[in-house]
Amino acid sequence: MPVQHFLTLDDLPKSTLLGLIERAIELKALVKQGAIYEPLKNKTLAMIFSKSSTRTRVSFEVGMRQLGGGALNLSPNDSQLGRGEAIEDTAKVVSSMTDGIMIRTSEHAIAQTLARNSSAPVINGLTDDYHPCQLLADLQTLRELRGDIQGATIAWIGDGNNVCNSFMNAARIFDFTLNVATPQGFEPVAEFLAPNTNNVSVFANARDAVTQADVVVTDTWASMGQEQEKAERERAFAEYQVNDALMGLANKDAIFMHCLPAYRGVEVSASVIDGPQSAVFQEAENRLHAQKALLELLLI
Ligand code: CP
Ligand code: NVA
Repeated sequence: MPVQHFLTLDDLPKSTLLGLIERAIELKALVKQGAIYEPLKNKTLAMIFSKSSTRTRVSFEVGMRQLGGGALNLSPNDSQLGRGEAIEDTAKVVSSMTDGIMIRTSEHAIAQTLARNSSAPVINGLTDDYHPCQLLADLQTLRELRGDIQGATIAWIGDGNNVCNSFMNAARIFDFTLNVATPQGFEPVAEFLAPNTNNVSVFANARDAVTQADVVVTDTWASMGQEQEKAERERAFAEYQVNDALMGLANKDAIFMHCLPAYRGVEVSASVIDGPQSAVFQEAENRLHAQKALLELLLI
């Protein structure tokens, strides 16, 4: 049987994704009850982080531990990857000793090469193109807060980036409307937008995109690797801050989401992210539960 990887949401059928979301909610309840559930005893997840992380690192490590297994962290700086060992060789060696590999890296092609050469499942913990684990947690959060997402309107405000690309895939798979508002030149790349155009509309104006939205989502204006562009981006995105005025145009009970890390006073005002409509910390916690459901599926 071919190894099941998770590099984008499209790697799993919709029915499996829906099952994962329900399972994440069950696993969350188990943890809250203090139940011990260790189906991954003696299993190991290798985690390759070529970029910084708080949530992804903690959620995968704690998730593996709660499921009875363990995780080890490989940063390119202290493994042979940083000295030029081929990703193909790394995949063969690491997968021969572990039960799964999580990778956070820049080029999506690196994650694909790793997966092609790995005898164990490879999970995308963020690339420049996608962040599918984030969407599992976001979909769980929306399921908890508003039930079925089909037919809802979600506004993505800001950068047409990796998280936006995964949101666009989710819009197609789960059949909700995604209104994407970005400054000119920061729209989602055509290659990622094209498969999703039935469910995604691109707006030049944040106000039009949030009008009657059920959910408003944003992300940092300068993703990892774009630190040099920060000042230029802050100028270009100035009209795209999610603040009280913008949230006021969405539906009255609209939910605010952000994958974090967030920068208050930049892409979102403190009043919104720390306000009553914000679901960001529930969303962050759900990384743990959603990824435990994924690990349970892929690593058993
Ligand atoms: N949202 C997210 O992936 O956070 P980290 O960069 O902290 O892992
Ligand atoms: N778009 C952000 C997400 C961080 C979790 C980045 O790539 O840095």
